[in-house]
Amino acid sequence: MGLAVVTGAGSGIGAVIARHAAKAGYRVALWDVDEVSVREVAADIGESAVARKVDVTSEPSVVAAFEALDEAPALVVNNAGLVRFGPLRTLSLDDWEAVLKVNLTGTFLVSRQAAAMMEPASGGAIVNIASINGIAAAPNAGAYTATKAAVIRLTEQMALEWGPAGIRVNTVAPGLILAGMSDAIYADEQVREQRQAQVPLGRLGTAEQVADCVLFLGSAGAAYITGQVLAVDGGLTKSALRNLARPKTVDSVGL
Ligand SMILES: NC(=O)c1ccc[n+]([C@@H]2O[C@H](COP(=O)([O-])OP(=O)(O)OC[C@H]3O[C@@H](n4cnc5c(N)ncnc54)[C@H](O)[C@@H]3O)[C@@H](O)[C@H]2O)c1
Repeated sequence: MGLAVVTGAGSGIGAVIARHAAKAGYRVALWDVDEVSVREVAADIGESAVARKVDVTSEPSVVAAFEALDEAPALVVNNAGLVRFGPLRTLSLDDWEAVLKVNLTGTFLVSRQAAAMMEPASGGAIVNIASINGIAAAPNAGAYTATKAAVIRLTEQMALEWGPAGIRVNTVAPGLILAGMSDAIYADEQVREQRQAQVPLGRLGTAEQVADCVLFLGSAGAAYITGQVLAVDGGLTKSALRNLARPKTVDSVGL
């Protein structure tokens, strides 16, 4: 299977992606700015996992991490992410820039370094973790939403530029996932129930379901798929019209 690199692998969805990659037979490089947690996750996975402190917003840190790899990665997952909530009118510039740096600049820096190693190795797969916030706006999430939308377009750009080198680049857009940065939201039972009621499949998603999708996009089964965004969201982003009011008399029309 070769080597997989997972950024933000010290917690939440990234840790689960790294575990699944190891189970699928990859050797896994787990990168995170939080050295303690990423070492714990790697130790738990076992011999096939190596942890490293990497700040995806720092070009020297990213370049050094790639230089330390003993082979070109077959799969790179840009999962490191940051959210800062607040209305656009009052969001601090520091918060805006922090989110932009991790979610967008980090994805850019890691991906182009990955491509530089993958090209002479005849290709590879990059999977960028965006969000359904990159597909639709949400209250108080303006910085996050803008960066995740940009990740979706950046994915298309990378697929275009690097396709001839055999490098496939796709986005996974997780929806309402019971893991990582959303744990605090779903600790509120009422919020959880209200949110899952809006999902056509009627439930929250799991980090495992996101990881399955990432591994599919990295696999030979996805050999002809590039530049795409795959929402793992139980149908949420395709159901914007579900709550429109309708008079009873036109119910049979279904508009
Ligand atoms: N949990 C959700 O509901 C959800 C939904 C949609 C998308 N996502 C996306 O999934 C990804 C993982 O999120 P999560 O929920 O597991 O969050 P999380 O906060 O548990 O994990 C994010 C990880 O990224 C690391 N990180 C932050 N800045 C970094 C940097 N500069 N360099 C390297 N690592 C850094 C953190 O230390 C952390 O381990 C993110 O990109 C997030 O935007 C999550």
